[in-house]
Amino acid sequence: VIHYKKGIAFLEKVSLQDLAQQFGTPLFVYSQSLLQDRCKEIKEAFASHPTKVCYALKANSNIALLKFIFSMGIGADVVSGGELEKALLAGALPEQIVFSGVGKTVSEIELALKKHIFSFNVESVEEIQLIGTIAKQMSQSVSISLRINPNINVKTNPYIATGLYRTKFGFPESQIAEALQSLRECPELKLKGLSCHLGSQIHQLLPYTQATRRLRKLADELRAQGHAIETLDVGGGFGVDYHGKPSHSLDAYAKAIQKEVKDTDYGLLIEPGRSLVAEAGILVSTVLFTKHNPYKHFVIVDASMTELIRPALYEAFHPIEPCLKRKGKLCKVDIVGPVCETSDFLGTSRLLPPLQRGDLVWIGFCGAYGSSMSSNYNVRPRAAEVLVSSKEVKQVCKREALADLWKRET
Ligand code: LLP
Repeated sequence: VIHYKKGIAFLEKVSLQDLAQQFGTPLFVYSQSLLQDRCKEIKEAFASHPTKVCYALKANSNIALLKFIFSMGIGADVVSGGELEKALLAGALPEQIVFSGVGKTVSEIELALKKHIFSFNVESVEEIQLIGTIAKQMSQSVSISLRINPNINVKTNPYIATGLYRTKFGFPESQIAEALQSLRECPELKLKGLSCHLGSQIHQLLPYTQATRRLRKLADELRAQGHAIETLDVGGGFGVDYHGKPSHSLDAYAKAIQKEVKDTDYGLLIEPGRSLVAEAGILVSTVLFTKHNPYKHFVIVDASMTELIRPALYEAFHPIEPCLKRKGKLCKVDIVGPVCETSDFLGTSRLLPPLQRGDLVWIGFCGAYGSSMSSNYNVRPRAAEVLVSSKEVKQVCKREALADLWKRET
């Protein structure tokens, strides 16, 4: 993503130093060409079988990025009324929007019905009943897909593994009969699909093979019972290697999934988030202080868990490098933020060239679950975001003003 010219870091044709000077730090910087590459890659990977690609907005819902993604013919996977409104605002086509999530509210369901989205992924009997009631009141028929919990284990952080019985997600197969029973009482609901989502940051292919096979088998059974199942939604979760090592290409995931539906007329639907945006974004931050105690060296920077909570929440690794490479001995340091928690670290035990107050560092793979999970903890304004295309730079999100932070309070 980042390349160095004479020791100075560049994203596309723009130096990170120039960006920091113009927009301040902490600053999210996105590369349009990388975003475009990933969007193209996923579309091409899945091109040989009819597939709806629905980008999971939760990974990053910046409107400029969304506009770009939707302009490439990609749809949206949303999990709230807010994401739905934002997707529509950024130009997503209603017929390319799926509404996922285990807890939808009355007003969110009404909004989705009003906008005529493609389908709801439903996860409980009570949700079926509620959508059924609202659809009846609005005299509207609605496509739904049952989210199956396939009880498939994936190797990832337990907080983001979603396909196991001990999680809150989906219907276990033993409860599908009950779901079908409640569907019979809701004539407005049309069961058109099955879905599942195994988790996030999955580097294995086998779980996708297993899950797709399971969905297909179930879909065959449901068709035999007279349900017009058209779409199998295998969710998102395709892994990204944050250490920059080669991992499975999106093509490999596509092949594993497609193999299970070739010779069928089931359409596929996928909900990638991270794999489209993670690599395209970095976070630039300024060194505030360096500090040494008998045990450790600390580099205190102006970014923190409020911009990037992934290290604190999942002990996630993100590469961290200086924007200007100084000559000198490498030193083992913890890169930490200003927030008053020991969990506020961005990277621990990293070997870095000498850093001093005022220097800049960049943190890689911050395009996904960076700004979208950011907070105002410690009354910190949320960071600005810029989109770079070759030499061109566009600010796509302003830094929050302090007054914005308390304007809702009385
Ligand atoms: N579909 C559903 C129903 C999901 O719950 C998710 C992610 C996705 C699609 C997209 O998954 P992806 O392709 O991005 O892996 N905050 C965590 C990740 C949480 C993912 C939640 N669900 C992180 O920073 O690693």
